[in-house]
Amino acid sequence: MQATKPQLFAYIHKEILPLQHAFLHVSDLAIQRGYGVFDFFKVQQGQPLFLNDYLDRFYESARLMELQVPFSREELVNIIFKLIEVNKLEVSGMKMILTGGYSSNGYDPVEPNLIMIQQPLVLPGQELIDKGIRIITHNYVREIPHAKTINYSIGIRLINQIRQRGAADVLYQLGGVVTEFPRCNFFIVKQDDTVVTPADNVLLGITRKNVLKLAGRNYKAKTGTITLDDIVQAKEAFLTSTTKRILPVVQVNETVIGNGKPGSVTLSLLKDLITLEEEQLAVEQ
Ligand SMILES: Cc1ncc(COP(=O)(O)O)c(C=O)c1O
Repeated sequence: MQATKPQLFAYIHKEILPLQHAFLHVSDLAIQRGYGVFDFFKVQQGQPLFLNDYLDRFYESARLMELQVPFSREELVNIIFKLIEVNKLEVSGMKMILTGGYSSNGYDPVEPNLIMIQQPLVLPGQELIDKGIRIITHNYVREIPHAKTINYSIGIRLINQIRQRGAADVLYQLGGVVTEFPRCNFFIVKQDDTVVTPADNVLLGITRKNVLKLAGRNYKAKTGTITLDDIVQAKEAFLTSTTKRILPVVQVNETVIGNGKPGSVTLSLLKDLITLEEEQLAVEQ
């Protein structure tokens, strides 16, 4: 028998509604000016993973963008758990978006709108992990790197170029110093097994934070400057994000990293990250 698609619900205008009825008015500053922030976390077995970290970052993004979150932390948590309860998804991603609100002159911010949506999530398959990905670089740095704004225009604009060049993603760099991907953080493993991720001009990824901590248990781990030349010299490279966990990077532009295969440090960190997520779930049960 064919499984029916679950009916999904969203939170908008202070109520939980079927997703197909969740609309935002055209006067919202998100539409008019691309003004808004958001955050995104994983939910497994009814439990949001590392929720406190994501909530901290959500409030920080709002503060940096001069947006007021019209809800206390407890209220946000209540909404999150209500949505989890009605959506009943096995593995999902929850997105909470705070927009500039319905501005009468299309510019001045007013009372923000809070929207939460939850969608099924498919994590990268073993085949992709075994193979690793090729990436290209692009000259760009995000303007307010610690804010998770809704503006992904540069990344989206580059999708065609990424595909045409046979790559899976694009790493931003400026003056030879690399920072991050549109939606992921970047790491290299040096020849002496030191694990490094860019210190500046990046979003402070929650996966980045967890991976730095895990790497520190078995290797030297630090934040610092990574240049394109450091990548050429690197033994391994990988990206991190909530949806991808850790994905090995085996080629950057024309440069093959190490032996062109996912490295042992990268794969051991992925194992450790999955264990950390499982431990989190066990604590929350
Ligand atoms: C610009 C940027 N960098 C890095 C990340 C990865 O962060 P996290 O590990 O918290 O998902 C994201 C997440 O979407 C992002 O938008």
